[in-house]
This record gives sequence, C-alpha cells and structure tokens, in this order.
Amino acid sequence: RWAYVNGAYLPHGDAGVHVEERGFQFADGVYEVWAVMDGRLADYDGHMARLERSLDELRIARPMSRDALGFVLRETVRRNRVREGLVYLQVTRGVARRDHAFPSPEVRPGVVVTARSVNRAAQETQAEKGVGVITLPDQRWGRCDIKSVGLLPNVLGKQAAREAGAYEAWMVDELGLVTEGTSTNAWIVDAEGRLRTRDVQSNILRGITRAAVTKLAAEEGLTFEEKAFSVDEAKQAREAFITAASAFVMPVVSVDGAVVGDGKPGPVASRLRRLYLDRAR
Ligand code: PDD
Repeated sequence: RWAYVNGAYLPHGDAGVHVEERGFQFADGVYEVWAVMDGRLADYDGHMARLERSLDELRIARPMSRDALGFVLRETVRRNRVREGLVYLQVTRGVARRDHAFPSPEVRPGVVVTARSVNRAAQETQAEKGVGVITLPDQRWGRCDIKSVGLLPNVLGKQAAREAGAYEAWMVDELGLVTEGTSTNAWIVDAEGRLRTRDVQSNILRGITRAAVTKLAAEEGLTFEEKAFSVDEAKQAREAFITAASAFVMPVVSVDGAVVGDGKPGPVASRLRRLYLDRAR
C-alpha cells in the first residue's frame, strides 16, 4: 500500500508527518472522504468544493490547484489498486514551532492522501438487513459545517455505538433534536410519510451524499422537508436512514433499541440507495 505525503508517494508503513505538524498538535486541518466506485471518485466536484470552503473558512492556503489535487487523489487510488473503496485527503496548516496562533510567515500546508478498498458485498448485506443507531448528547462546537480533523466527540460517539453493538451514534442538541451521526447525516420518513433531515444552517456538516439524495428525492416526487426531528419522532417514524460517502444510503432499523417501522429497511431508503448507486456508477 502507498500513501501520498507532501509531494511523495511512500510505502504506507513508513508514511509519517513531522512532530510539529499542526494537524497532529492542534487538529488544525480539514479533510474529505470520497467513495471510489468502479475506480472513479463519486461526487468528485461536491467534495472538492466543500474542501475549498473548509480551507477558506479556516484561512488555510490551497496546497495546489484543484486539478493537481485531483491527479494526486486518482494516482493514490491507482497505486493502491482500489476499484471499490475510499480515498482520504487531509490538508493542514503545516509544520511550525508550537504556538496556537497561525505561523507567521505562513508555511506550506500539509497534504496527506490514503486510499483503501472496501468490501462492497459485505456492505450490501448490511444494507439489506439495516443497522442500529444509539443517541447521545451533541458535545461539538459551533462550526460543524467545517470538515475539520478535530473529531474527538465523533470518536467517542462512534466508540459508544460500537460498544452498544450499534453502527452509528446520532447526536442530539439541547432541544432534543437529532443533529447528525458521528460520520453520517441522519434522515427519517416520518409518521406522515414525509422525508425529513435537519437543515444545513443548523450546525451540521453539509453532506455531499445528503445533497445528492435530496436531488434524487425531488426527482422521485417525494415530499421532502428540511426540518430537524426528535429522537421520539425517529422511534415512531416509518423509516430511518443515514447518508455518507462511506455508507451511501444505509437503512436504520432501530434507534436506542426501539424498532423503527417493521424492523426492516423501508421502501424509501432502499429505493434511494438503489438510485444513488445507479447514478454514481
Ligand atoms: N464523514 N456528518 C459528519 C459529521 C461526517 O463526518 C460526514 C462524513 C457526513 C456525511 O457527509 P458526506 O455525505 O459528504 O460523506 C455527515 C466521512 C465519510 C468520514 O468522516 O469518514
């Protein structure tokens, strides 16, 4: 396996960054994850645009042109022989003597790219059964729209899910409304049959898969509302699901142990998954 690190492709086992890399010391960086489907990067432009926005919001310089970065992503995928999988890109503020404020003069941003294969057959089996989620308080900051590598609450949430035998943890705001999963956006088909997900102005990540599914829902003529839902509404929903580059559309069949619908993936979630996969290929 190979990793791209600041201009060089290195054997994965030897690939490392400097001890005073600001991503390492301060989580002063951002990232993106693309699904690789049939050797191609799904939703390429959407993820690229979000990356540029995250960088701009944090005033981290663009490390290279969009085309050059795209080349590095594809080359890393190629060198790792990934047909179905994920590619990870991280851009940080770079290496400098430890000081919380930005380095002055500015230093070169740090760039790391890795790629790995995913067992799509196993993922498909999981999607046919559906997954469980737990809920816990959202303890994150006020800029969850930035895809920052500062992910401790997400890490702790995902670990809690794993220990509970669940696939994901949904985070809940102080009003009792679900914000999003630790690495996914959260959706329901509510008791009235409306497709619902929280609006992107309310401190969540603007999911690229979420945006694609929103379009598909419109094309399908589904009633769709950008409106947050409570944990109780999720438990009483007809269907629930999550979206992310790493999961596409994944049906959710239980919330905190309460069965959603009939405990099987619902027709809307299954159809949206199928459409998303067909579209991306
Ligand atoms: N996570 N919400 C959060 C907090 C996320 O970290 C992600 C993505 C999403 C879904 O966004 P998208 O559809 O653009 O992948 C929502 C990536 C996959 C990760 O951290 O691995």
